[in-house]
Amino acid sequence: MTTVNRPPSRRKWRSLLWRIGYKLFRERMEYWRDLGWRKYIDYGRIRTWLITPIDSVFRLLEIKGLLPDPIVALETFGRQGLWKTVEYAHRCAYLEFYEIRPSHAAFARRVLPADRTKVIAADSIAAVRDGTLHRSDFNFVLIDSFPEYFGVGYCEFFDFFPHLFKRLGNYAVIVINTFMTLNPERDVDPRLLERRRDFYNLPDTHGARKLSARNVLDAHARSIPPDFTLVDLFLVPHPGETVFVVMCVRRQ
Ligand SMILES: C[S@@+](CC[C@H](N)C(=O)[O-])C[C@H]1O[C@@H](n2cnc3c(N)ncnc32)[C@H](O)[C@@H]1O
Repeated sequence: MTTVNRPPSRRKWRSLLWRIGYKLFRERMEYWRDLGWRKYIDYGRIRTWLITPIDSVFRLLEIKGLLPDPIVALETFGRQGLWKTVEYAHRCAYLEFYEIRPSHAAFARRVLPADRTKVIAADSIAAVRDGTLHRSDFNFVLIDSFPEYFGVGYCEFFDFFPHLFKRLGNYAVIVINTFMTLNPERDVDPRLLERRRDFYNLPDTHGARKLSARNVLDAHARSIPPDFTLVDLFLVPHPGETVFVVMCVRRQ
């Protein structure tokens, strides 16, 4: 039997072109993709059909009377700003936005309000630790971290503590995207499990893959230095394996 060499179908060509394009222009393509999704999400938000995790954080803080005013915000892991930052940037009097990849930061400059935002392409953990932030009176901090061992030996959000407290005003809200569960199928760096064991004060690394709400709340309450008091601490659901830990603190 003779085999016929058929030309690849249009679908195959399209998928090949997409993959080549993605390799070459990945960040630009992500920007346009996320900008498209953003239009749908905002359509639902404006019509009160949906409330995102960031909207829930702000609504709960408003209801509880705990939202700072005016808001002086620090976004630590900003990406292109299209997932979370754009949802609250308009509420801020000042927003200092950090993203380590200059190409992502350049896209963030296009979408965030230029009159109140400083987009900085730099390492936010180093900026917090070394005190090179432009202000030291932040009253809203978002740490949209990921469960990884990364950069120069950083892990999740742990390396912001306790240095972050030196950069806060007298009252502040810290919002941390926290992974309660790590996908059991996923291979993880053993150092990530060790850091989680230490931060959450667990007996061993086994439990570091699946945390209870109690583990999370207790660990965050313990992370507050003695010159601050805890005003409120609560969880806001986030799709997937994460929750937002919302921590309201006051300097004594
Ligand atoms: C989960 S995404 C954040 C999404 C973002 N909050 C949003 O609203 O779109 C994490 C981002 O943090 C950036 N990143 C990683 N390490 C960083 C660091 N040390 N300082 C600043 N940004 C960092 C990554 O490049 C990535 O774009």
